[in-house]
Amino acid sequence: MRKVYLVTGGCGFIGSNFIHFLMKTEDDITIVNLDKLTYAGNLKNVEAYATDSRYVFIHGDIGDRNCVRDVFETYHPQVVVNFAAESHVDRSISGPGDFINTNIVGTYQLLNESLNYFKELSEPDQERFRFHHISTDEVYGSLGDDGYFTEDTAYDPSSPYSASKASSDHLARAWYRTFGLPVLITNCSNNYGPYQFPEKLIPLMILNCLERKPLPVYGDGQNIRDWLYVDDHCDAIFQVIQNGTIGETYNIGGNNEIRNLEIVQTICDILDEFRPNPKLKSYRDLITFVKDRPGHDFRYAINATKIKTDLGWVPKHSFTAGIRKTVKWYLQNEPWWEFIRSGEYLNYYCKQYRSLNAV
Ligand code: NAD
Ligand code: TYD
Repeated sequence: MRKVYLVTGGCGFIGSNFIHFLMKTEDDITIVNLDKLTYAGNLKNVEAYATDSRYVFIHGDIGDRNCVRDVFETYHPQVVVNFAAESHVDRSISGPGDFINTNIVGTYQLLNESLNYFKELSEPDQERFRFHHISTDEVYGSLGDDGYFTEDTAYDPSSPYSASKASSDHLARAWYRTFGLPVLITNCSNNYGPYQFPEKLIPLMILNCLERKPLPVYGDGQNIRDWLYVDDHCDAIFQVIQNGTIGETYNIGGNNEIRNLEIVQTICDILDEFRPNPKLKSYRDLITFVKDRPGHDFRYAINATKIKTDLGWVPKHSFTAGIRKTVKWYLQNEPWWEFIRSGEYLNYYCKQYRSLNAV
């Protein structure tokens, strides 16, 4: 039987990588991509499927009940994977409103419409149905030099972004415990790889190097993140959907704790090798220490034992391999990022948005 996935936020970084992953992994599927096309949603990330009969794009908001209801009634998904979110910590500091609207209220509407749909399904269809909520390790707050986040770590978010994601996780869990919606939750560490919007550390640094711009390192650059190649995250999500226990949370991490400054220096060194700039001794000359982010979490580190033990998932990419692959992807996909960096991007999206709305 053909499996229908409703993927929300499928035009963003991880959502689009997940669609690529599903298209490679599953034979008989339909993917319905529901995306609002915010600044972070880029149709070019999934343009390979624009005319593919296995793929449908719906321009809409997870917070729009009527739209979500129509999608359920029209496509009858067996799996919902909720990637749709506002995702950048710095933007949540300068403007938290969208984070509250999408991450909290939007998730609530999506859960509610999923439940209404779920209640009408036959028993065998109810047994197959899954609502997979995608979340972050940032909900657990900040670690000191020692320790790891486990699934039992108490939530302690610092930024408006992580607080809004924490709220959405609590809602998803409540819809399972109170209403019986078959929810799965994953909390993942920092991702990197193709199609990441160049506001996040790794793509921003790669592109600033290529444009010989300063590389802004917050504070002293000693903050630590646990980095995971995006395809490994997609694989973990897929494993959880297939074999995860309903109502459970799974932490996903790369076991790659690296300080920010080291990440930036590594990118500089790889570009010195792949694309040396005759005007610079090294791209490292562009590193500039800037004012720290307010409420900047010091360290994130995931204990991913549960997903390894229960589902056999382990990451396939080392950081050394993943970061070289990522730098290469940005070098080979200049039109993708030049368009975004040119300023034409938002213009294009305003037009795209209007024409889609007119349909
Ligand atoms: P992204 O910002 O690249 O993409 C978000 C996508 O959601 C965009 O396509 C956007 O248009 C869409 N969207 C936003 N609001 C919407 C709404 N109201 N309705 C429908 N679509 C909407 O984000 P990302 O980095 O791909 O992150 C995806 C998910 O993974 C998020 O939930 C994020 O919290 C989580 N996550 C991200 C990371 C990371 O390192 N990027 C790590 C762990 C978890
Ligand atoms: P980011 O990619 O924004 O992810 P998150 O804040 O969700 O972890 O940032 C990763 C780390 O890099 C974080 O510690 C902040 C730091 N950072 C910089 O030092 N300079 C930058 O320009 C950016 C965007 C991030």
